[in-house]
Amino acid sequence: MSGAAGGSGDNPWQDNRGNKDRSITKSSVAGGEGMAQAVIGGGAAAGGPRLEGDAFLTGDQMTGGYGAADILHACTIEAHAGEIAVIVGPNGAGKSTAMKAIFGMLKLRGGGVRIGGEEITHLSPQARVAKGMAFVPQTNNVFPSMTVEENLEMGAFLRQDDISGTMAQVYELFPILKEKRRQAAGELSGGQRQQVAVGRALMTQPKVLMLDEPTAGVSPIVMDELFDRIVEVARTGITILMVEQNARQALEIADRGYVLVQGRNAYTGTGAELLGNPEVRRTFLGG
Ligand SMILES: Nc1ncnc2c1ncn2[C@@H]1O[C@H](COP(=O)(O)OP(=O)(O)OP(=O)(O)O)[C@@H](O)[C@H]1O
Ligand SMILES: [Mg+2]
Repeated sequence: MSGAAGGSGDNPWQDNRGNKDRSITKSSVAGGEGMAQAVIGGGAAAGGPRLEGDAFLTGDQMTGGYGAADILHACTIEAHAGEIAVIVGPNGAGKSTAMKAIFGMLKLRGGGVRIGGEEITHLSPQARVAKGMAFVPQTNNVFPSMTVEENLEMGAFLRQDDISGTMAQVYELFPILKEKRRQAAGELSGGQRQQVAVGRALMTQPKVLMLDEPTAGVSPIVMDELFDRIVEVARTGITILMVEQNARQALEIADRGYVLVQGRNAYTGTGAELLGNPEVRRTFLGG
């Protein structure tokens, strides 16, 4: 195919527009002066933390579950445009459930979901994709018998336009996938399969990319690399909402972090604030 790919200088994933480095290393959040500090440790008491009002993606006071018993209890998750927001918490805390609720795979009994200020609480997952959401679930996130390239094509099935440029961008972000594009995704290593899953989500040209444990089961080196790629994606202006079990490393790249416990907001702050909070460290980060 002719190259929308271009040289690495054209790589949109490496576009540093918006100078995102600042927000990744500094703990201040634009417009949120003093807010995160107030929320730290106080989130559990009165339902979800106070909203800043200008989030790009909001799961607001979400309450609901799979049957009679609620799993989420007034759980609030926000991600601002171009930010990396990270959800951490113990097994069974409801992290995946919160992601499913935001993506529309779970009917809420209370609360709502908004994207770009628009109420989408009652939209189907497919309609949310059309609004700019992409979701990489925790499990079964690739088609193992399809090739890498077919997986990427599947990601774009809702698109009517030419997808070759986006595919070239995905291959620039994850060069190994280009090398293995004719191989069945099921034959790839765990880390490479996660790249396929992320790549497939990017094929929809999302505004917000939701990742449920993208580094599950991969080595520390592969984890670091995946996180680097995720930061690159965020620098292009795509908002990231990610659940991570590698809490410390994920909070290091997070502009905003949420600790969920039993379906409730337990702690909310910038990544740096959560990493610096003694209680969070002791209880959730192993000291
Ligand atoms: N499909 C389902 N039907 C019924 N209950 C479910 C379903 N999926 C999850 N649960 C329950 O909801 C609760 C929260 O599960 P969830 O998967 O959201 O937790 P999690 O924080 O993502 O955990 P993990 O870290 O293990 O991925 C758990 O008690 C779990 O047993
Ligand atoms: Mg989970």
